[in-house]
Amino acid sequence: MATDPIFEPLQMRGFTVKNRIFRSSISGRFDNYDGSGNQARINWELKFARGGVGAIISSYVPVTIRGRILPNYATIDRDDRIPFWREVGRRVHESDCRFILQLSHGGRQRDIGGIEFPKGLSSTDDSDPVHGFECERMTLAQIKETVQAFAAGARRARTAGLDGVELHGANGYLITQFLSSAINDRRDDYGGILRNRARFVLEIVAAIRAEVGRDYHLQMKISAVEYNNALAPFEPAGNTLEDSIQVCKWLEEAGVDALHVSSGSSFPHPRNPPGEFPVQDALKTFDSMISSGTKELGNYLALRTAPTARLHVMNWNSARGDVIEGITLPEARAIRAAVKIPVICTGGFQTASVIRTALNDGSCHAVSIARPLIANNDLVKQFALGADRAPKPCTYCNKCLVNVLENPLGCYDETRFSSREQMIEQIMSVFQPAPFDAESTHA
Ligand SMILES: Cc1cc2nc3c(=O)[nH]c(=O)nc-3n(C[C@H](O)[C@H](O)[C@H](O)COP(=O)(O)O)c2cc1C
Ligand code: SF4
Repeated sequence: MATDPIFEPLQMRGFTVKNRIFRSSISGRFDNYDGSGNQARINWELKFARGGVGAIISSYVPVTIRGRILPNYATIDRDDRIPFWREVGRRVHESDCRFILQLSHGGRQRDIGGIEFPKGLSSTDDSDPVHGFECERMTLAQIKETVQAFAAGARRARTAGLDGVELHGANGYLITQFLSSAINDRRDDYGGILRNRARFVLEIVAAIRAEVGRDYHLQMKISAVEYNNALAPFEPAGNTLEDSIQVCKWLEEAGVDALHVSSGSSFPHPRNPPGEFPVQDALKTFDSMISSGTKELGNYLALRTAPTARLHVMNWNSARGDVIEGITLPEARAIRAAVKIPVICTGGFQTASVIRTALNDGSCHAVSIARPLIANNDLVKQFALGADRAPKPCTYCNKCLVNVLENPLGCYDETRFSSREQMIEQIMSVFQPAPFDAESTHA
C-alpha cells in the first residue's frame, strides 16, 4: 500500500519532522507584560504537540521590546529569557514534535505598543495607510542594532535547545516594511531597487549565520504577493510574485534552509488569515486600538455604522476571493519551482485530501495550519485515523483573530459548541494546569 504523504517524514537542516503538518504561528496574550513567559504559553503549545503536529512554529516572539505588537507576548530579547524557552522546547519535544521559534519585529505595525516605546521603527516615517500607526525611519545605527538583535535571538533559541528559528518576514512586519516596494521609501542603500530593499533581511541572515553557524535551522516566512492595495485601492500594489521569487533565491544563497509562503502586506489581511471579517466581535475589542493609530477612531466608527461596516465586509470578501483552503498554493508552487530548499505553505488547510494533493502535485513540501488547529487541536491524529475533515471543522469566521486583542486565544465560534459555557471552558483550558498550586502554598 502506498504511504500517506501527510505522514512521510521531512528532512530539515539538522532534524527530521515526523509528518508534513506544521502548526503555524498563532499569537495570544498569555505571558507577562514584561516579556517573561509563563505556564499558559507552555499549556498552549502542548495542546498542538500532543495533537500530533510534526513541528510547531512558535507565536510571534519579539527580538526587542520595541519590536512587539502587543504586550504579554513572551520575548527573546535578553539572555535571561533562555530558561523559559528551554522549558517550552523540552515539553514540546516530549511528544516527538519539533519547535521552531519565530524571530519577530513589528516595526510600525503594532496593535497596542505598550508603555516603553510610543512609536515603532520602520523603513519609512510614513504611518500605515489603514490604521495610521506612526513610526520613525530607522537610522543606520538602528538598522545595525536590529540586525544584531535578530542574531542574538537566534543564538538564544539555539542555546535553549530549540530546533530552529523562523524569520517573520511576512504580513507587514518590519522585514516586510523593508522588502516592500509599497512601503519602503528610503533613498539610501536599504531602499529603491529590490536588491537594496532585501539588504536588511540578507544582513539579518548573514548575522544569524555568523552567530549560530551553518548547521542551525533557519527558515523565513514571506508574503509572496503583497496585495498592498487590497483595502486601500489608491495605494501601490507592492511586491509581485516575481519580486518574491528573486528574494527567495537570494535567501537560499545566503543560507536560509526553508521558506514558509504567506501573502499580504499587513496583518490581518483579507488573504491571511483567509476568512470572514466578524464585525460584531471586532466591535467588542477594537476599541483597545483607538489610541494606537491615527485612523483607528475613524475605522472603529465606520465599523459601528451599518452601511460602512457592510462595505468593509464586501471589500474584505472581494479582496480575498472564493478560495480559502490552499489560497496561497499557486505562489508556493512557483517558489518551490525556483528553489531547492523545502517550501511550507500556509492558508486555510484542514482537509486531508486537499493537503495530500498539494504534497503529491509538488506545490509544497509541507503545509502549516493555524486556525483549524485552534478549532481541533488533534486534527493530525484525526487524519491518522482516516478522517478527511474534522466533524466540526473551523468555519474561518476569524472570531479567534479579533478577540486576541483583549481576550485569551481560543475558538470563539459558538456554533461549534453545544453551549456558550462549553466554548468558554475550551478557551479557559489554556490556563490549566495553573502556574502554581494555591492549595500547596497554604500547607
Ligand atoms: C489569532 C492568530 C494569530 C496569529 N499570529 C501569527 C503570528 O504571530 N505570526 C505569524 O506569522 N502568523 C500569525 N498568524 C497567521 C497564521 O500563522 C497563518 O499563517 C494564517 O492564520 C493562515 O493559516 P490558517 O488558515 O491555517 O489559519 C496568526 C493567525 C491567527 C488567526
Ligand atoms: S473562531 Fe474557531 S471556527 Fe472561527 S476561525 Fe477561529 S478557530 Fe476557526
